[in-house]
This record gives sequence, C-alpha cells and structure tokens, in this order.
Amino acid sequence: AMAVSQATTLMGFENIPTSTADEVSLPAGYTYDILMSWGDPVLDGAPKFSRSNSAEDQAGQFGDNTDGMELYHVTRADGSIDPNHAVLAVNSEYYNDEFIFEHGEAAKTAEDVRKGIYAHGITVVEVERKRNGTWQIKKGAPMNRRLHGYAEFELTGPVAGSDYVKTNADATGRKVLGTFNNCGAGRTPWGTYLTCEENFNGYFGAPEGTALTEAHKRYGLSKNGFGYNWWPHEDRFNLAKEPNEPNRHGWIVEIDPMDPTSTPKKRTALGRFKHENAAMTINKDGRAVVYMGDDERGEFIYKFVSRDTYDADNRERNMRLLEQGTLYVAKFHDGGMGEWIELSYGRNGLTRENGFESEADVLVRARAAATFVGATTMDRPEWVACHPSSPMVFCTLTNNKNRGVKDNQPVGGPNPRAENHFGQIVRWMPENRDHSSDRFGWDLYAVAGNPETQTGLYAGSDNVTAENMFNSPDGLVFDQFGRLWIQTDGNYSNEGIFAGQGNNQMLCGDPVTGHIRRFMVGPQGCEITGITFSDDHRTAFVGIQHPGNAWPNTDKDGVPRSSIVAIRREDGGIIGA
Ligand code: FEO
Ligand code: CA
Ligand code: CA
Ligand code: CA
Repeated sequence: AMAVSQATTLMGFENIPTSTADEVSLPAGYTYDILMSWGDPVLDGAPKFSRSNSAEDQAGQFGDNTDGMELYHVTRADGSIDPNHAVLAVNSEYYNDEFIFEHGEAAKTAEDVRKGIYAHGITVVEVERKRNGTWQIKKGAPMNRRLHGYAEFELTGPVAGSDYVKTNADATGRKVLGTFNNCGAGRTPWGTYLTCEENFNGYFGAPEGTALTEAHKRYGLSKNGFGYNWWPHEDRFNLAKEPNEPNRHGWIVEIDPMDPTSTPKKRTALGRFKHENAAMTINKDGRAVVYMGDDERGEFIYKFVSRDTYDADNRERNMRLLEQGTLYVAKFHDGGMGEWIELSYGRNGLTRENGFESEADVLVRARAAATFVGATTMDRPEWVACHPSSPMVFCTLTNNKNRGVKDNQPVGGPNPRAENHFGQIVRWMPENRDHSSDRFGWDLYAVAGNPETQTGLYAGSDNVTAENMFNSPDGLVFDQFGRLWIQTDGNYSNEGIFAGQGNNQMLCGDPVTGHIRRFMVGPQGCEITGITFSDDHRTAFVGIQHPGNAWPNTDKDGVPRSSIVAIRREDGGIIGA
C-alpha cells in the first residue's frame, strides 16, 4: 500500500517496463553513450581492442568486467572546479576465459596468465565533456594509470609488517603486488578512491596433497580455486609455497586518483574479508566511519570508526585516517534493535585463551573473530550506502539459498525467508544519530519478491509491485539529492519464480516514502554494477558487467564487452529528477 498511498517528489521519471532485449532501456527523455569498454586503450601506445590483444596490450587498456567507480573533478589552476574535466577511477573485477583468450579456456600459458592479471585491478582515466554533452576518455592523459595485478601496493595499519603477511618475495610484510577481484567502491571526502577486494581466494591454488589451514578454508581458499590456473605459472598464487600470500588480499585499498606516482595503501585496520564496497560518512564528532559488507552466504556487516578526526583543511592528516581505528561487527536483534560488537584483541573474548594471538590476527581472521563474538549471519551483504544528509544507512542483502538450510543461518530478523532467492534491503539508524554508538535501530526498506508468482513474504514488501519487481539487489548508491539507486545482479531467466522480472536492472528508491521505480534495464546476461555522477548530476556513469551476447556491438568480432555507459537527459536536466 505504501507505493500507491504516498507521493514521491524525489523522482521525475516514470517507471519503465521490464525487458529481455539485448539493449539498454531508459525512461522517455533519457539517452546514453558508451564511455569505455573492456580493452579500450587508456595508456599511451596501447592498441585498440582486439580479441587477439597480448598481455602487454591489455596492460595499457581498460580491464575487464567493470564494477564500482567514482568520478573526481579536476581543480583548475585558479582553484575552481572544472565541470567538464574529471578523473574516473574504476574497478575491473575479473575476466571471462571464453572471451579474453582466443582458445576460450582457462589460462594455458604464462602469457595467458599475464594477460588475465593485467585485465584485473583499477583503471584511472581522465575524461572530458564535449560541448554536445557527451563524455570521452582522454587516451594517454597525465593522470591515466593502470593498477593491475603487478602494480605495487603498501600494507598499512596493525597487520603491516606482521608475520601473517610475510612471504618469500617480501620479508618486510609491507609490499604487495596486485589487487584482485575489486568489486564495489567508495570515496572519501578528501578525494581518494576506495577499492574493495572481494573473491581474492579464487586466484589461488595448490598441488594435490597440500594441507590447507582452517584459516584458509574460512576464506574459501582451495586447491583448485576458481580454475584460473595461475598458480602453476606464478609461485605467489601457490598456497603450498606461499601460504601467507592470501593474507595480503581481502582488504580495502585507498588510492589517490590525482597522484599517478602515489603507492596505493591496503588499509588493514578495516579488516580482512570478501569486501563488497566501502560506504564512508563523517560522524558528528568528526571521526570517519566506514560501513562494509562481506559478500558470502552467512557472513557479516562491519563498521570501522577511525581513531582520529577528519580535518577539511588538512589533507595530509586525512590521508592517514584509515590507518588506525576500531572495527565492529553487527548483531541484529529481533524487534528492530541491533548492536555493534567490537573486534579488538583482548575484548569480547578475542584473547589468546580463545585462539586469537594479536590485533593483527583478529584483523586477518576478521570472519573468525566475528563468528566468535556471535555476530548475525546475513543473506550475503553487498553494497552499503550512507544517506547524504541523514545518518540512515542502507545495505543490500542479495540472496541466500542457505538461509534456513544450514545450521548457523536461522530464519529471522533482517533475514526473514528460508531459501531466499530474491534478496532484501535492510537499513539502520544509529542511536542518537551517532555512528559511533554501539546501538542502532533497523528495519527492512524493501523485500524483493514476485507478487505475480509468489504469496506471502515471497511476494515482496508493499513497495514491490508487478510493475517494479526485481531480484538480487546488489549495487546501492545514494546520489547527493538522496535518491537511492539500486542495481541488480540476479536471475534474468524471466521464468518460473522470476517470470516478469526481465534482464538485470537499475531502480531508484525514495528512502523516506519507500517508492521504487525502475529506471534502467540492461542488455541480456549482464548485471548492472557501479554508478557515479558528474558533480552537476547531469550525467550518470553506470557499469554493465558481463553482458552475455555481442553487446555493445562496437566491434566486428562479436565478443561481448563489459562497458560503462554515460546516461544523460535530452533536456540536459538532473538525472532522476
Ligand atoms: Fe562482486 Fe558481491 O559482488
Ligand atoms: Ca556486487
Ligand atoms: Ca552480486
Ligand atoms: Ca559481478
């Protein structure tokens, strides 16, 4: 009833119908261009995309499977912000064997492995708006950069230099090569980019007979990994030779997109897990607070609170804000209350007697620490989003077939459905509007479902209708006006319990009235993930990951290419208004 009984003034476009077409659908009056596709040349000298590109070619091109991204406008010499010139930082989460290699199978040669590693990581690229409103990347521009699996990263915070992160290649435990499976993103008010290492475990492997530890297993490390086949070619991915290498991955990484000579920092104080994204807000006491989801069935939602405070006039100080602070994990109680439990060595039973050795150990094994203190197992926490002007926080819980099936994942609280195939969005408000409070109140903003094929809770909440239904909410970002943009990574069969839901899509929610309208439908097979805006909010950059067919059809060899689209209004107006 919520959706029909109240008006929303936040959205000025009409809900669009679902679609199964191999194209991008938008509301009337909107248009889009392709900004950049996998393989487009970014660095000087890089060639145009071809399926036969070499590893070295890929090292200078946009990586594959675009995901989280953020845009940073350039400051002119006179101190003003240039509305038409910006730097885009964007993640490439992984690659698809069948498209990246001409032989179409997992990496066979050392060259294959190098190409795959170069297809990962972050692309930093200058972009420019032309007079007609379209945006173009500036190939070879001074701030362009590829931070791939061979780039150098620095570990910072309590884990840096500890025995857990020392390897044969790096006895200091501070210098890491590469970042992998960069999923969602975040930004800081001091202009840095946060990139989030998610399913890093899949790149590791080991010969038969290798004994893996409990800590390895908790993070999904296995002898075969995801079948990438990198470990026979590079020792760092071989768990038998380098059992500590995976401890150097699974972190939030901070990058200064405006300084191409800077070394990105892995922020160990924020905990090691399969990071989806990082949603930062500045608390009313000035401390930086980062909310984070661990995207796996039955894993947790975390909060980091910095030790020091943000100073708008001291960027150098802010650049160290994520080095020290306190990590917490969420416990949701039935009835709408919740608490944050501190994950610090020596607190809440995280002691030597209980198997925790040090602060570094607690952070490296954050999952084990969170389980020990009794955190609430969630339905795959994906993106978190902080409202721009209120302390409300939202998080997508994408789906969880194990809910109510596995022992430690009971039905209840914010995870109300067994074998949850549709997902939901939880939100919370910190006690006293203070993000550092140990208590919060929560409710469910939306329960995705199918009112056409399902009944009861599986039909979805009142704000989910036959017209706007969706499954598996994943990407979640507030724009500066408080519109909640919801992106899906779900079942696009359009059949059975998903009949009528079409391809993956992006919706827009009013966080107060609960209204949700479908804004965009993606091409076949894709998920929609990653969104950022120009400062004037007249362009939205949106990621189309793993399209299934030949989309976007910008070359002749029929290879689908993950791409970023730049969405505009034909009348030049604000996106969504
Ligand atoms: Fe990379 Fe959880 O999505
Ligand atoms: Ca995701
Ligand atoms: Ca997902
Ligand atoms: Ca994905």
